[in-house]
Amino acid sequence: MSTFSGSIEGCELREIPVESFGYQELRRLRFAELRKPLGLEWTKAEGEADRLDRHFGLYLEGLPVGTVVVAAIGSGLAKLRQIAVSKAEQGRGLGRCLMDAVESLLAGEGVTQVELHARLEVAGFYDSLGYRRQGELFEEIGIPHVKMVKSLKRGGSA
Ligand SMILES: CC(C)(COP(=O)(O)OP(=O)(O)OC[C@H]1O[C@@H](n2cnc3c(N)ncnc32)[C@H](O)[C@@H]1OP(=O)(O)O)[C@@H](O)C(=O)NCCC(=O)NCCS
Repeated sequence: MSTFSGSIEGCELREIPVESFGYQELRRLRFAELRKPLGLEWTKAEGEADRLDRHFGLYLEGLPVGTVVVAAIGSGLAKLRQIAVSKAEQGRGLGRCLMDAVESLLAGEGVTQVELHARLEVAGFYDSLGYRRQGELFEEIGIPHVKMVKSLKRGGSA
């Protein structure tokens, strides 16, 4: 398990092996924040994608408070998905801490650009982190999304 200290004291990003206990914990967090509010269940395709991708948790004083899943989609290019912070912990900078930490980690591995499909209602969160909106709006899991991209610099996000 690799760890990365976040910008908030006591906060740490950890990479979690798929199908481990930690993965099940993060999956519950993802379900509570990203699926349940929309009345959705996991699909078989989502389970299969999970086995291929990398799973990261943001831990505050050892407890999971945030999640992001990373897919390598090309040379120097990664896609971020399943970004969420526990409801009780939102609005205190942990989302920014989660994104800063995963971007720094990926930049250190040679990733130069990250992209994600943002729910339109939270696109402002990614705007504030320096992401750029790209292309037309589209629908995913029944709600409007916009593709967003960000260039990373080696050793830190741009
Ligand atoms: C979106 C989410 C990850 C943000 O995490 P958070 O911990 O609440 O965000 P932070 O407190 O770190 O906020 C960082 C910045 O983004 C801004 N921000 C946060 N949520 C925002 C929103 N919904 N719309 C616009 N701006 C937002 C904050 O005001 C803050 O700006 P500032 O640094 O200029 O003050 C979190 O609210 C969440 O999990 N939401 C539910 C699941 C979800 O929608 N995930 C995204 C799917 S694409």
